[in-house]
Amino acid sequence: MTFSFLQGIPYRDVFIYNFLTFLKLGYSYDLRFKIVQPYLHKDDVILDVCAGYGRLKKFIPKECTYHCIDASPTFLKKLKQKEIPSSLQNINEKCVINYSHYTVVVMIISLCHFPKSRIHTLLDSFTKMGNRVIIIEEVIKTPKQNHTWLRKIMNYLCCVDYNKHLSLLTFEEFKDILSKHNYKVTRYNNRYSIGTFGV
Ligand SMILES: C[S@@+](CC[C@H](N)C(=O)[O-])C[C@H]1O[C@@H](n2cnc3c(N)ncnc32)[C@H](O)[C@@H]1O
Repeated sequence: MTFSFLQGIPYRDVFIYNFLTFLKLGYSYDLRFKIVQPYLHKDDVILDVCAGYGRLKKFIPKECTYHCIDASPTFLKKLKQKEIPSSLQNINEKCVINYSHYTVVVMIISLCHFPKSRIHTLLDSFTKMGNRVIIIEEVIKTPKQNHTWLRKIMNYLCCVDYNKHLSLLTFEEFKDILSKHNYKVTRYNNRYSIGTFGV
């Protein structure tokens, strides 16, 4: 029997994505979006990279312009239904983005999808896309935690055809990588860390 149909399922079905995220986060479900709020200004033009189905929109000032990119066709369909300007883009490939367009670039819990070598390139490209960059990332205590059963199952489920990589960074790794690109790094709580540029 093959379980490969389960691979990538959270990013192929919004209900399953929400359900698994709720199982993991419970009542802190929306905390990651609330952490971003204080960094946003009323007149911002926001680019949400790896936006999922654009839930951040609920947490931004009404006056902001909001644009999403993501590589999941399912999430893109949902974004279009919600009439959120969005484009289907795999950021592992060459991005077609008008760099001068955005006042702020946001990325939430998505660096974990990229190997360290790619993260370096992405961090640099974000600073060209927007004046400010806000990154919220889930971090673990030790690299060992990537090998627990629960984490292995999550990694398996979140493995999509456009991205096979999933490995959470420790806070020290996050800090080390982002500091190299002149991002400021702070620890929010045991789960989340924040990286900002130009703030
Ligand atoms: C953990 S989800 C986070 C979604 C959203 N930011 C949130 O917090 O709910 C990671 C997102 O990254 C997207 N993603 C993964 N690899 C990608 C890639 N190579 N290019 C674009 N999007 C990608 C997935 O489709 C998914 O929507």
